[in-house]
Amino acid sequence: MIKAPKGTKDILPKEVKKWQFIEAKAKETAKKFNVSEIRTPMFEYTELFKRGVGDDTDIVNKEMYTFNDKAKRSITLKPEGTASVVRSFIENGFSSEPKPLKLYYISPLFRYEKPQKGRFRQHNQFGVEYFGSDIEKADAEIITLADDFLKNIGLENYKFKINTLGDEKDREHFSKELKKYFSNYYDQLCDNCKKRLKTNPLRILDCKIDNKKDFFDKAPVINDFISDKSSMYFNSILKNLDYNNVNYEVDPSLVRGLDYYTETVFEIVETNSNDYSSVLGGGGRYNRLVESLGGNSTPAIGFGIGIERVLLSLDNKINKYSQNSNCDIYILPFSEKSNKVVQNLASNLRKLNLSVEIDLMNRSMKSQLKYANKLNVKYVLFVGEEEVKNKNVKVKNMSKGKEEIVNLQQVPEYISKELKNENQ
Ligand code: HAM
Repeated sequence: MIKAPKGTKDILPKEVKKWQFIEAKAKETAKKFNVSEIRTPMFEYTELFKRGVGDDTDIVNKEMYTFNDKAKRSITLKPEGTASVVRSFIENGFSSEPKPLKLYYISPLFRYEKPQKGRFRQHNQFGVEYFGSDIEKADAEIITLADDFLKNIGLENYKFKINTLGDEKDREHFSKELKKYFSNYYDQLCDNCKKRLKTNPLRILDCKIDNKKDFFDKAPVINDFISDKSSMYFNSILKNLDYNNVNYEVDPSLVRGLDYYTETVFEIVETNSNDYSSVLGGGGRYNRLVESLGGNSTPAIGFGIGIERVLLSLDNKINKYSQNSNCDIYILPFSEKSNKVVQNLASNLRKLNLSVEIDLMNRSMKSQLKYANKLNVKYVLFVGEEEVKNKNVKVKNMSKGKEEIVNLQQVPEYISKELKNENQ
């Protein structure tokens, strides 16, 4: 038997309603903040991620699904959304559009990671990217948008961790000091970090092997290298977050695992758990990325929220979505002779966007009724011999057990009215 590839999973009909709920809320939230949707290809030229996300990051170094296509071009399945959106921003000349340009995506992403709870080789993110604004209100707005989304889906136990990496100069200074510090422990560093020491010392800070070693705790922290300008900028973001009642905590050790960040970085974490899967999302400013990928210098900020993680965190809370009935109506005929009436009725009901099932299995009336019960339909319409003669239908409201004889022509209108009353 062929199984789904390791680290992937099917989203079965039973669960799909939860996904639709999350996606609908993401779209609703984006609309509230006037953010437009963008859809980029599932794969890009590998170079984009090497240059965009950074050669020394775990994502690029270890986790990419990379292959040559038939013309021997190196292709990579998108491991994250930001670099693709930036590529599209540049390629489509968006730098001449009115700013800020606000974009969102809901997309599958691919990382060759060790599959565990909340960690998959194909995962999905709701991501938002703002281009063109370099003022703190943009940072605060995008964090507030993420907060609004999470509140809207009913999540409660989470907070934002937020930090600043300062500007490029601050980072350079910090990087030099890190290099100095970790050089003292060169022999104790893992092989990867020995390389990182030369190419990108900052990345040593997200090493899951070395961060357990004693010397790690005394490593320099970014906060000691932040300029006054960046500090002031950071503090005004925090003020704006207070205005918006966002639950945050400043975390001086937060650096994030992608190279493109400057200034603000943040993560959304569950407050009642401490494992990696409790990181529900992350983001930050990337003021240099557009330029470094060949566009005009454009400040930008964004975040990505992992949909699988959010669903794990919501867990039982949204089980009600999987229990709801999909189907409004089952039409039960007395015999094949009423087929024309049944087909017409189904068609008229579907014109009103109602969900209708008819028998496709040649079942007996008894087993059709059993099946209708299993479907948990709201109404069963009995098209009996007598009823066809009198141009009537017996409408049974399944939850109330109420039955009524309704004129055939008036059935669609009758049911729509009933459903409307029920939903009020
Ligand atoms: P990231 O931190 O790599 O950032 O991923 C964002 C979120 O996606 C994570 O916090 C996590 O919830 C989820 N996630 C990541 N990898 C996996 C996985 N293997 N399985 C399940 N969930 C996962 C980014 O990707 C940036 N592009 C975010 C961003 C947008 N920064 C600026 N704009």
